[in-house]
Amino acid sequence: MALVTVIGTQWGDEGKGKIVDLLAENADCIVRFQGGNNAGHTLVIGEKVYKLNLLPSGIVRDNTVSYIGSGVVVDPTALMNEIENVTKHGLSVTPSKLVISESCHLILPIHKIMDGAMEDARGDQNIGTTRKGIGPAYEDKVARRGIRMIDLKKPEILKARLTAMMAHHNAVLKGFNLPQIDVETIYNDLLKAADFLLPFIGSVGPALDNAVKQNKNILFEGAQGSLLDIDHGTYPFVTSSNTAAGQTGAGSGYGAARKAHIIGLAKAYTTRVGTGAFPTEQDNDIGEHLGSVGHEFGTVTGRKRRCGWFDAPAVKHSCLVSDVDSIALTKLDVLDGLETIKICTGYNFNGDVLDHAPCHIEDWEAVQPVYETMDGWMEKTAGAKDFKSLPQKCQDYVNKLEQVIGKPITIISTSPERNDTILRRDFFADTVNLAA
Ligand code: IMP
Repeated sequence: MALVTVIGTQWGDEGKGKIVDLLAENADCIVRFQGGNNAGHTLVIGEKVYKLNLLPSGIVRDNTVSYIGSGVVVDPTALMNEIENVTKHGLSVTPSKLVISESCHLILPIHKIMDGAMEDARGDQNIGTTRKGIGPAYEDKVARRGIRMIDLKKPEILKARLTAMMAHHNAVLKGFNLPQIDVETIYNDLLKAADFLLPFIGSVGPALDNAVKQNKNILFEGAQGSLLDIDHGTYPFVTSSNTAAGQTGAGSGYGAARKAHIIGLAKAYTTRVGTGAFPTEQDNDIGEHLGSVGHEFGTVTGRKRRCGWFDAPAVKHSCLVSDVDSIALTKLDVLDGLETIKICTGYNFNGDVLDHAPCHIEDWEAVQPVYETMDGWMEKTAGAKDFKSLPQKCQDYVNKLEQVIGKPITIISTSPERNDTILRRDFFADTVNLAA
């Protein structure tokens, strides 16, 4: 039996979709435990490209059941569209393949309106959210006025809850000088969505417990990255959920998730969408190069991602917060052809050199990166499947990263293709028996 968690150790977009999909080959259950359709996972399988936002990456596999845990916020319309879309691409999404927790909170049109209105009101200080309504939906959850999946089962309760929730939002809309929203319209739309969604609703925790008792393999699929975690990220420029691995238990209802082997995903360089601290950002030709070779545009919003060198103190911070066991390094091939490559090994801060994140998260804005410069390599690494076949300078780079992060790099991805992956079995097979 194996429990494995995959989380991002940077600001998201580390290539989780591909790695989850690779591990999914031997997984029976795939579980999302936080976030919503702000996530964007691209899976390239042969000729086919699947873009997933809310559906767990296991949906592309026949042999897995996908679970959306209670920690996820679900936009019913977006989910129905996504199911329709993947169905058009030949996938089958049935209640035996997809289970949505009855406790998931819903993202309603009002949440998207509020997301946009609050972002506009922030002006220059905007967070750069995906405007998918994620933050406002979590706000309603925590304020105990949210609407949950289970409410779709009981129309009279749904209506009462919607009425209470909209009394709050209509008051806020008035403050923003925005039109009022009619409860009846949302209610009727939700009743229509209920017909579609109710067959998928179930209890996720007990289902996972059962699966484990039958020796099944479970994979927890994180979204965004640890540096966007609401508690441990670069607040306030973060998302509204806990993206760290500790959320797997609370966000799925299966507490034993804490026993999972935790794989931290890291790109061989760093990117960020949206506003906020980014010590190693390269707002220059290097950044442009990484962005264009790495196709660094957001899957959800299409925005150009900010790009920079690998930031070891930031990744170490994520490893600490999530107790990462091993690292999967992605997009190594994007560095091919660079004369020199820099690694941020520490931060200059108030006259000290730190090899870890500053104690107070606000100070992240003030640090100056300390770089170690390495020789690059001119050979192409795209498609490499064996560590020893990588150019020596590339191997040196990976070994250096391992040393500065202090965690073994067990998986290396050398292209978006599922098969272009190096599994360093000496570390990997022993700890993660999900490996093929
Ligand atoms: P929100 O999650 O839409 O509220 O956005 C909050 C911050 O998280 C913004 O900076 C977004 O760009 C960022 N963000 C949200 N989802 C992702 C993701 O999947 N990848 C990378 N950044 C994300």
